[in-house]
Amino acid sequence: MNKVRWGLLSTANINRQVIPPIRVAERAELVAVASRSQASADAYAARWDIPRAFGSYQAMLDSGEIDAVYISLPNQLHAEWTIRALEAGVNVLCEKPFAITMDEVDAMIAAANRTGKVLAEAFMYRHHPQTKLVGEWVNSGLLGDVTLVRAVFSFSLVGTPGSANNVRLKPETGGGALWDVGVYPVSFAQYVMGGPPEWVIGDRYTGDSGVDVSLQGQMHYSGRRVAQISASFRNPYQTQVEVIGTAGRLVINDPFRIGVDGKSYFVEFHRPDDEIEILSVPQKELYLGEIEDMNAAILDGQPPYVTLEETRNHVRTVLALYRSAQMGAPVALSELP
Ligand SMILES: NC(=O)c1ccc[n+]([C@@H]2O[C@H](COP(=O)([O-])OP(=O)(O)OC[C@H]3O[C@@H](n4cnc5c(N)ncnc54)[C@H](OP(=O)(O)O)[C@@H]3O)[C@@H](O)[C@H]2O)c1
Repeated sequence: MNKVRWGLLSTANINRQVIPPIRVAERAELVAVASRSQASADAYAARWDIPRAFGSYQAMLDSGEIDAVYISLPNQLHAEWTIRALEAGVNVLCEKPFAITMDEVDAMIAAANRTGKVLAEAFMYRHHPQTKLVGEWVNSGLLGDVTLVRAVFSFSLVGTPGSANNVRLKPETGGGALWDVGVYPVSFAQYVMGGPPEWVIGDRYTGDSGVDVSLQGQMHYSGRRVAQISASFRNPYQTQVEVIGTAGRLVINDPFRIGVDGKSYFVEFHRPDDEIEILSVPQKELYLGEIEDMNAAILDGQPPYVTLEETRNHVRTVLALYRSAQMGAPVALSELP
């Protein structure tokens, strides 16, 4: 095998971002799509010029025609279909949030271990050179000791046309601002801090449908380091991360959707006197890295760049924030499995 044969599990909106990178990647080909109905699969395959269309997810997994599947289902279905894919002998790239309970996460990891197949969470921004450079700058001591991370991801969803049917606003489909966009600030903080927090405080605003439409969190790390995160479906579109240290701070105005919508590739370095230096970042298609990483994991046996241990801690931290918001009290990560 010198090319990974990819299948799309569902006709989700997000697929449009990964179809071009699968086609651009040297060691990948897009061979199939599966939908819950044959008509929908056929229409999607015709529109996107995909050779094979399956009228059920299981039929594609059992076909022997794909090596890897991209799972872009609503959040509450990630675990079930990841496990089914692994058990069918198919490698899995699963969208964020990986899963919504620790039992699900552990069952997914156990299935990967049992089958020996590759399993990774699709956090595309982690693979981009910008994010990798931020990690290198932090580790090189550019900022001195990092003391504070501030990270936000919000967009206006509540009250917009059609939003009542959006899976993001439904509790039964794993909706909620923290699960949908808050996982990005949570994962960025974990990346920069080198691990999960020791304890967290969460404060949520619950909308009419019963999910959190805003959630603010404070995450405490060893050495009196703190990350403050904000996720919202009520506030206007904003993504920003600040990494603040004793010798300066980085302002990342486009931390998660890097280069999308024609944005520039740079990070601001603010010196202690607030003189600003612009640090440039190589351009790269945002979703290409996660596809290349999976191809290398499958074809070369290279461990996935976003490890399952990191992924497990992303979900653990989110669940701790939700628990704290519900209890109105701090929650230690050690209280979660
Ligand atoms: N990494 C990123 O940049 C990014 C961006 C957006 C979303 N995401 C993630 O990707 C996943 C999909 O998000 P999306 O907004 O693209 O979803 P979406 O457009 O709502 O599509 C979800 C798909 O899941 C299938 N499905 C199966 N059971 C369903 C059910 N009960 N209700 C609704 N759909 C069902 C449907 O496909 P069929 O009808 O073909 O079966 C549907 O098209 C989510 O986990 C989300 O967090 C990631």
